[in-house]
Amino acid sequence: MCGIVGYTGYREAYPILIKGLHRLEYRGYDSAGVALLDESDNSLSIYKAKGKVSGLESIADSRPHSGCIGIAHTRWATHGLPTENNAHPHQSENGRLTIVHNGIIENYAVLREQLKSKGYHFRSETDTEVLVQLIQYTVDTTGEDVATSVRLALGKVIGAYAIVVIDRDNPDTIIAARKSSPMVIGIGEGNCEFFIASDASPIAEYTTKMVYLSDGQIALCRRGEELQVLTLDNDLVKVKVRNVKLDLNMLDKGGYPHFMLKEIHEQPSCLRDCMRGRIVEDGKRVVLSAITEHREELLNARRIVVVSCGTSWHAGLIGKQLIEQYCRIPVEVAYASEFRYSDPVIDDKDIVVAISQSGETADTLAAIQLASERGALVYGVVNAVGSSIARNSDTGTYIHVGPEIGVASTKAFTGQVTVLAMMALAIGREKGTIGDEEYENLIAELLSIPEKMEKVLSQDGRIRQIAEKFRDKHNALYLGRGINYPVALEGALKLKEISYLHAEGYPAAEMKHGPIALVDEEMPVVFLATHYGLYEKVISNMQEVIARKGRILAIVTEGDETVRNMVEDVIEVPQVHSSLAPLLTVLPLQMLAYHVAVSKGLDVDQPRNLAKSVTVE
Ligand code: M6R
Repeated sequence: MCGIVGYTGYREAYPILIKGLHRLEYRGYDSAGVALLDESDNSLSIYKAKGKVSGLESIADSRPHSGCIGIAHTRWATHGLPTENNAHPHQSENGRLTIVHNGIIENYAVLREQLKSKGYHFRSETDTEVLVQLIQYTVDTTGEDVATSVRLALGKVIGAYAIVVIDRDNPDTIIAARKSSPMVIGIGEGNCEFFIASDASPIAEYTTKMVYLSDGQIALCRRGEELQVLTLDNDLVKVKVRNVKLDLNMLDKGGYPHFMLKEIHEQPSCLRDCMRGRIVEDGKRVVLSAITEHREELLNARRIVVVSCGTSWHAGLIGKQLIEQYCRIPVEVAYASEFRYSDPVIDDKDIVVAISQSGETADTLAAIQLASERGALVYGVVNAVGSSIARNSDTGTYIHVGPEIGVASTKAFTGQVTVLAMMALAIGREKGTIGDEEYENLIAELLSIPEKMEKVLSQDGRIRQIAEKFRDKHNALYLGRGINYPVALEGALKLKEISYLHAEGYPAAEMKHGPIALVDEEMPVVFLATHYGLYEKVISNMQEVIARKGRILAIVTEGDETVRNMVEDVIEVPQVHSSLAPLLTVLPLQMLAYHVAVSKGLDVDQPRNLAKSVTVE
């Protein structure tokens, strides 16, 4: 969850590292640090700051920061408080080696005691300092060079890591290694300079030539020389260079005050991108290459198991309803973190669908690795191109909504639901479980979603006013049924994440089995009450809340006078096919959470304790 940047080459490293840290700050923002090696006098400057990268900049800008080799880090604390002392980079006791690390060294306590007994001292509470001391110890006791010592030391480590190490005695080389934490190396001009990072976003403006390290690999990035990649067993790996292009405009706020607001408003254009080239023949057919290529496995699948976390798990619940309805294949939706330790009954007749925005979520990655071992076909529904989950899937469909920076997922969710809807249509068509009329009607409805979204987004001002009513509350209930139930869960998660209000999502009818005890005049209750399916029953649930003086905000279908006359606030969404309702009903809930957080003066894009990419389990 931490962010790593490194550079070795002929340019000044500092501006590259600081800009890179800003790009990676979504991964963690408890503290930040940078180390620069100036080979003109072999001096090493290390600066650290608690809090955000801007704090680090205000310290380092006014102090010496030259050097063409450097490493930097933005932290999401695991071991030890988010203090300056625990901030990375960390050094070996003699100051020769400097490291930044993302991940968790699980056996750090044992290693630390062993090193202490050999006379090593520790200045921080981190597992990272243990690792750099272990590497130094290996250099000291084996007489091997640093690269070999990194390799040997990593052989003793249990856990997950992406590390970058610099050596004061070799001031042109960066050593990078990974296991279960992402790491990409950009090859710069003339193949003589290297950019190292946790993902491609800090690198994309310098080069499109990228090498993604795989688990158990070590890279030697030596200025002016070819990149060398080895396994932990010291076998040379053939380097696979990919051509990765990112739209740099997507990495900026584009005039919006927050990434989250930009990403909410981008959804219509993102969904057009997501459907482009997939809904073809003038809107008559859905073609997903993964489904064409794996037609037989999908048609004969005994079951589909979705593995995911958080918002992606909510998208999975919607996908379940769509796939079961249109493909008649049973679907289970599992939390990846539970699935991986549940000894799941899974084999080659199952399809495992992994849904992930970042493509780096540790639990989801481990879940698909387990599913693959047991013979299942793994289908990735991922946003980040080239990410670990994408690379570890047998096949898949990218969401293609562009990088999502705000910690609260918005456009990725609607992108995921759109991909799952297209999958349901494509598989259902091949299986013959969806009729021609329904198929064509649903495609037309999907294509109409972006325009309808624009209508919902135009109600931003009204939602901002409603948000004022939430700002001083402590709890909220979100209720919906059928396809809108996962939307209730998602709305509640959004509010929790960024406005720190406790919120619960429930199936509306389940309310009377417990949560109704919480309803009084202080309790805001958000109802998803669009005009189909179980509409009348949801109205009855509303009456039950009104009878207990609950304050209702209802998301309704355009023109619904019945609900308007019953409740305090309504937000209308355009009429849409019931199966696609979540693509519209979720928008007011995203905006509501956003405006509540802004009115409370909270940091919307970087809420406390969270990180965008959860690369630890
Ligand atoms: O990158 P992923 O989609 O795998 O991430 C899963 C969750 O960590 C993520 O959806 C999280 O719940 C978001 N912060 C929700 O807004």
